[in-house]
Amino acid sequence: MARTVIITGAASGIGFACAEHQLSLDWRVALIDRDAAALEKARIALARPQETLSFCLDVTDEAHVNAAIAAAGKLGPVRGLVNSAAIGADQSFEATSVEGFRKVLDVNVVGCFIVARAAIGAMRDAGGGAIVNLASVSGLRGNMGRSAYGASKGAIITMTQVMAVELASANIRVNAIAPGPVETAMVRSMHTPEARQNWVRRVPQRRYGEPREIARAAAFLLDDEQASYVTGHVLAIDGGFLAGGLLPD
Ligand SMILES: NC(=O)c1ccc[n+]([C@@H]2O[C@H](COP(=O)([O-])OP(=O)(O)OC[C@H]3O[C@@H](n4cnc5c(N)ncnc54)[C@H](O)[C@@H]3O)[C@@H](O)[C@H]2O)c1
Repeated sequence: MARTVIITGAASGIGFACAEHQLSLDWRVALIDRDAAALEKARIALARPQETLSFCLDVTDEAHVNAAIAAAGKLGPVRGLVNSAAIGADQSFEATSVEGFRKVLDVNVVGCFIVARAAIGAMRDAGGGAIVNLASVSGLRGNMGRSAYGASKGAIITMTQVMAVELASANIRVNAIAPGPVETAMVRSMHTPEARQNWVRRVPQRRYGEPREIARAAAFLLDDEQASYVTGHVLAIDGGFLAGGLLPD
């Protein structure tokens, strides 16, 4: 029977690319996003109505998340989860409001926790599975303007490691991907032309990544054969950003 992967933030960017790629690998895909119009557009663009279900909800809404994950099982056994939904913020530490900081943590950390906890129940019923949490290089380095966002992604990395330790006995692997800058709607709204120049100067490959480059790595981590002994890992897909120090001009 075809396996089902739940993907949050599936209406855009990396989440959408993961949905497209997993469908090409014959998975069924449950798409979750809070943007109804974008979600509908995404499902039409994927053009696989029999193999997809979409759920318009906010990942911080526990009751809706639980109901959606129970319904996603109709597609087939839930063996995968990609937690891609998140919000960004580019604000100096001092300019960040308490309310804004809480909002970022709520969506990016608590939302990921709510969806993962619900999905784990479905994975246990299916005999195991794999979870991929989207972190960021900003969860590993002090990038300016990323106090709330970077703190949320650092939390995702630690949560991923704890989940990997606790869920190994249930045959559930849990890994994180830490992308560098990737061309998506989030980045288009956050990166000014100056910020782009700044990033490209610091990425050894001298370019932004494409969503499909993240989706291929997520597919590897979701694959129980290829990544059978990989859990608790943080995979940087960043054109060399984290490795870099002094770069050529
Ligand atoms: N694009 C990058 O450069 C980059 C770099 C590092 C990490 N990431 C991470 O990758 C993931 C995907 O980012 P992206 O660039 O594709 O973003 P994106 O903005 O293109 O897509 C995010 C999607 O999440 C949805 N979403 C936001 N809040 C939600 C909520 N509360 N409930 C349900 N859906 C919600 C949005 O509607 C949107 O469709 C995020 O976790 C992001 O932090 C992105």
